[in-house]
Amino acid sequence: MQTILEDMRSGISEEGIRLGGEILKQGGLVAFPTETVYGLGGNALDAEASAKIYAAKGRPSDNPLIVHIADWEAIRAIVSEIPEAAKQLADAFWPGPLTMILNKSDLVPYATTGGLETVAVRMPVNPIARALIRAGGGYVAAPSANTSGRPSPTKAEHVAEDLNGKIDMIIDGGTVDIGLESTIVDLTDGAPTILRPGYINQEMLTKVLGEVEMDRGLIAPESGVHPKAPGMKYRHYAPKADLIIVEGEAEKVRRKINELVQQQISEGKKVGVIGTDESLSYYKDGDVRSIGSRKDEITIAQHLFGLLREFDESDISVIYSEAFETPQIGQAIMNRLIKAAGHQIIRV
Ligand code: TXA
Ligand code: MG
Repeated sequence: MQTILEDMRSGISEEGIRLGGEILKQGGLVAFPTETVYGLGGNALDAEASAKIYAAKGRPSDNPLIVHIADWEAIRAIVSEIPEAAKQLADAFWPGPLTMILNKSDLVPYATTGGLETVAVRMPVNPIARALIRAGGGYVAAPSANTSGRPSPTKAEHVAEDLNGKIDMIIDGGTVDIGLESTIVDLTDGAPTILRPGYINQEMLTKVLGEVEMDRGLIAPESGVHPKAPGMKYRHYAPKADLIIVEGEAEKVRRKINELVQQQISEGKKVGVIGTDESLSYYKDGDVRSIGSRKDEITIAQHLFGLLREFDESDISVIYSEAFETPQIGQAIMNRLIKAAGHQIIRV
């Protein structure tokens, strides 16, 4: 398949949006930018389009897709009821990087929800995404536009790496703003519960709803409780190299990483280090890269997935990373980093 590449980095092309919308209506797949990560879109109400999404990503079909809408009114057709909490969250955070789990209506095929009676709904803020959703009929199922198991794409180049030749169109909207997937909140089962942490954090949600819980499967993976979002149980974002997080007081972390790097080098191994603008100069050896600045935590979120992809292109066999428990997005950043590291953490 020839994948059409539409460049909208310097502005929306009406023509391109019209073409993308046509492709979606005919059951095809269009990758597009959102404020979180790039999505791989198909018509959410068309079971065959959803099947194509799973095939292109190599994704297990029991892992449900998020339905993207562009207007509040659109939600009525795809859910069986709208709880008060959903209205409050929409008022506060839509359009934006928040996904709500609600009970689905009959209009949404099980192929889209992975067989579940619930549906994930999100209204993105990115103008290209919103225009495309409207042009495509109003309901766009879109997982992250990566091959299953690889880091989510934060640039159109990442999408092309994984999906070129497998989908109809890629819209390039430049680098995304946030770099981590949306926060997922379940509103179908007792107290509102965070199933996946993101830019909209627990404190922000609590301010709107009162009490908001964190999925037990997320905070205590060793407890044997399975995460409630099916996708959170899969090994994700795993780089080819062994990734190990070193956590603790800044000074001690730097010393420990330098020591570990020396050890690996003496064994003839190639080593990578993930530090920040503030710590870069402390690391003497190895392939040292800055993920961003602790003074501007969004830069850390933005670069995480891209950096993991960069290391995959090198022949490095071990990567040591600092921990990034930053105030607002730290929980989301660490959720992704810890998964990428397969839970390998050294505490100093
Ligand atoms: O930021 C985002 O959410 C991006 C952009 C493209 O919007 N999309 C995204 O989709 O991250 P995906 O498919 O990579 O992740 C969706 C997550 C998975 O962990 C999935 O299991 C969960 O949402 N999910 C979807 N529907 C669900 C449902 N009905 N109940 C529980 N979890 C659900
Ligand atoms: Mg994903």
